[in-house]
Amino acid sequence: MCGIFGYVGSRKDAGKIVIDGLKNLEYRGYDSWGVASKVPDGLIVRKDIGKISTVDTATFEEESELAIAHTRWATHGGVTQLNAHPHLSEDRTIAVVHNGIVENYAALRDELITKGHTFLSQTDTEVIPHLIEEELRKTGDFAAAVRNACLRFDGRYAILAMHTASNTLVAARTGSPLIVGVLHNPETPDDYGYFIASDTPAFRKYTHIVQYLDDGEMVVTDGKTIIFSDIQTGEEREKREIEITWEVEEADKGDFEHYMLKEIMDQKESVARAANQDEVQIQTLAEAIKNAYGTFLVGCGTAGKACMAAEYFFSVVANKHVNYAPASEFKVYHHFLTDRSLLIVVSQSGETADVLEAMHVAKSKGAKVLAIVNVQGSTISREADYTLLLNAGPERAVASTKALTGQLAVLLLIAYALAGKLKEGKMLLMETSSMINDMLNPRYVDRLSNLAERIKEHEDLYIIGKSWHYPMAMESAIKIQEVSYVHAEGFAGGELKHGPIALIEEGTPCIALMGKDEVTNDMLSNAMELKARGAFIIGVAPENNPVFDEWIKVPDAKDAQPIVSIIPIQVLSYFLAVKRGKNPDMPRNLAKSVTVK
Ligand code: G6P
Repeated sequence: MCGIFGYVGSRKDAGKIVIDGLKNLEYRGYDSWGVASKVPDGLIVRKDIGKISTVDTATFEEESELAIAHTRWATHGGVTQLNAHPHLSEDRTIAVVHNGIVENYAALRDELITKGHTFLSQTDTEVIPHLIEEELRKTGDFAAAVRNACLRFDGRYAILAMHTASNTLVAARTGSPLIVGVLHNPETPDDYGYFIASDTPAFRKYTHIVQYLDDGEMVVTDGKTIIFSDIQTGEEREKREIEITWEVEEADKGDFEHYMLKEIMDQKESVARAANQDEVQIQTLAEAIKNAYGTFLVGCGTAGKACMAAEYFFSVVANKHVNYAPASEFKVYHHFLTDRSLLIVVSQSGETADVLEAMHVAKSKGAKVLAIVNVQGSTISREADYTLLLNAGPERAVASTKALTGQLAVLLLIAYALAGKLKEGKMLLMETSSMINDMLNPRYVDRLSNLAERIKEHEDLYIIGKSWHYPMAMESAIKIQEVSYVHAEGFAGGELKHGPIALIEEGTPCIALMGKDEVTNDMLSNAMELKARGAFIIGVAPENNPVFDEWIKVPDAKDAQPIVSIIPIQVLSYFLAVKRGKNPDMPRNLAKSVTVK
C-alpha cells in the first residue's frame, strides 16, 4: 500500500535511480507518483496522477545525490496531483514521502494552522513535513526534528524525509515496512550509498545486502555512514547485514506479456520448492500443533483461502481440528486465547497489517506464532516465533497465484507431518508438482483462452465446491473479480439451494470444482441442481461427467487436489481480464501489499 524509495550517496543521478526503482514498487499502488531531488538551489519536485511505469526516466536529468519517491494507493484524499507525494513544508525546504496513515492528522493540522501553516492537499501526510519544520525551528537539528515529529504521530507509517540544508536522508517506521539497501563495496570505494525502500525490488539491481528497520526505529544516513536508533529513546541500534537470496531475473516478466501469466507458469516449479522444507523443522511445528490447546489459522484475501483449505487438510489428513478466521476478524478472539494457543499466519508479502495485528493480539496473550510467508526478512517473518518460507520467488502481479499454491503445499505438508506421514506428504507434493508441469502445456492454456472467449460477455459467474474446494471456489471468485471485474461468487455446493440458486438463469456460467473423493457425488448432485435451472456447467475435475457442458480436466492429485483445481481458474481469470481489455497486473482500486487496516 504505497511504495516509497530514497537514495543518498556518491552517484549523481539520484532522481533517475529513485524513479527507476519505484517502477518495481508499482504493485504497492499506482494511482499517482512523485519525486523530490535535492539540487544546489533547493528541491526539484515532480508529481502527477497515473502510473509510475508510464514516466520517462530519461527526463530526470538533474544532478543530484539525494532523492525520494512515492507511488500512491490513495487513502486520505482523492487521486489528484496535489494529493500525490512528496509533500513539502511551508518553506518548501523539507520533503516527505509516506506509506501508512497518521490517524491523528486532523488535530495536528488544526494545531499547525493556528501556527500559520497552510495546507494544499487533503492528505494526512502533509502534516508530517509541516510538523518537522516546527520541530526544526526548535532544535536546529533535522534528524532530531524528524524524531520529535514522529513521537506525535498515532497510527502505522513509514516515512522518508529530506531537507535542502544537507545530504541527509532520514527514515522512520512503525507498522509499515522499510528496508535499507547497502552499497558499500571495498572494491569500488568511490561508488557508495544507501537506498531505503518499502521493498527490496526497488534497489535489488544495485545490491543484495540489506538491513531491516524494526518497528519504532529510525535511520539517518548521508550515504557514507548510517545510524539506526530507537525513535522513542534515541538509543542507537546495531544492525546485521543480510543477503537477499533471489536474483534480479526472478522478478522479471521475461517474454510474458504480464506478470500474472508468468507467475501462473512459475507454478511448474514453485510448488516443489515450497514442499522442499526442512523435515526436522516441519516435524517440530507439527509437534507444536499437537501440543497446543487450540490452533488458529489466519490470513487475508487469497492467503486466507489457503488457511481455510487447511482446515480441511488437517481434518482429512490428520484428524485434527484447527480454526480458521480472516485475519481482520481475529482480534475478537483474544477473549479465549492463552499461552497454550498457537497461531499460524499465512501471508505472501509478510507485511499485511491485519495479519500483523492478529499476531500482536496472540502474542499479547503469550501464544506462539508460526508464519508461512514468501518474502524473506518481511516484518511478519521477523516477528514470528517460527517461520517457513514459500520460496516461490518474487510475486509481482496483484492477483496472488504461485504464492497460494505454495501456501497450500506447505500447509498440506504440515498436516501430513502431524499424521506421522511426512515422507508420504512430500512425495505426493512432488508428484503434484510434476502433474502441474504437464498440465500447463500450450494446448491446455489455449483451451482455457477459448473458454474465456466464450463466456467473456457474461457479467455474472458462480463457482461451487465442497470440502477443500469450498475455499477454492471462494478463491476462484476473488481471482475472477479482481482481474476481469466480472461479478463472481463462490459458494459451498450444498448452500446453493438455500438462496443463491435464485440467481441462476438460462446460460449462467457455473464452475464446479471437484476431485475423486468422498464428496464427489454430492458435488455432482449440486451441479445437476444448477443445470436443471439452465446453468452452463463447467466442470473442473479429473473425470468427465454428463452434467458438464464443458470439462476442464485436472489430474487426480488426491489430497493435493485443491492445488491443481485452482490453476485452470487462474488461467481462465487471466484470459477473461485480457479479453475484456483489462490489465490483469494492475486491477483498479487494489494493491498487492495491504499495509493499512
Ligand atoms: C491483497 C492482495 C491479495 C493477497 C492479500 C493478502 O489483497 O491483493 O492478493 O492475497 O492482500 O496479502 P498477503 O501478502 O498477506 O498474502
